[in-house]
Amino acid sequence: MSFSTVSFDGDDLDTTVHLVAFAGDVATGCVTLLRHPAQQSIQLRGMAVKSDYQGLGIGARLLGEAQEIAKAHQKNLWCNARQSAVSFYEKNGWTAYGPFFEIPIIGQHVAMQWKIPDREP
Ligand SMILES: CC(C)(COP(=O)(O)OP(=O)(O)OC[C@H]1O[C@@H](n2cnc3c(N)ncnc32)[C@H](O)[C@@H]1OP(=O)(O)O)[C@@H](O)C(=O)NCCC(=O)NCCS
Repeated sequence: MSFSTVSFDGDDLDTTVHLVAFAGDVATGCVTLLRHPAQQSIQLRGMAVKSDYQGLGIGARLLGEAQEIAKAHQKNLWCNARQSAVSFYEKNGWTAYGPFFEIPIIGQHVAMQWKIPDREP
């Protein structure tokens, strides 16, 4: 895919965080966290692990880091998850909400969220 198809509004904001996983010099996975000023939750998007590195725990580790950042900001996370990735998010403590909807070219998606654990009283 061309570079323009993977760059989005908000990527360059000072409040946006891009996490990248490396194996040596190889970038193996990535995810972006977008903090819309008006929103109570942080949007997670662009979650991907290089095909020959999938199934090794890299995605779970990236999600774990994203969840740590969310905890530090005391905000929940949300994303539009591909249907094929819903179980991946569920295994990592996320829940789906709302109906499935179509994103052209990519396919069926559903909104999912991860809530920061309740703080000790
Ligand atoms: C979905 C994706 C990010 C997962 O990353 P990954 O590094 O392969 O996942 P992990 O190895 O960390 O897997 C963590 C757990 O989720 C499971 N899992 C991973 N991908 C899964 C999938 N697509 N469906 C169901 N379970 C999945 C793993 O089996 C593992 O379970 P376990 O802890 O019981 O062993 C990666 O497969 C990917 O990039 N897919 C294509 C792009 C995509 O769908 N991105 C998400 C867009 S919303």
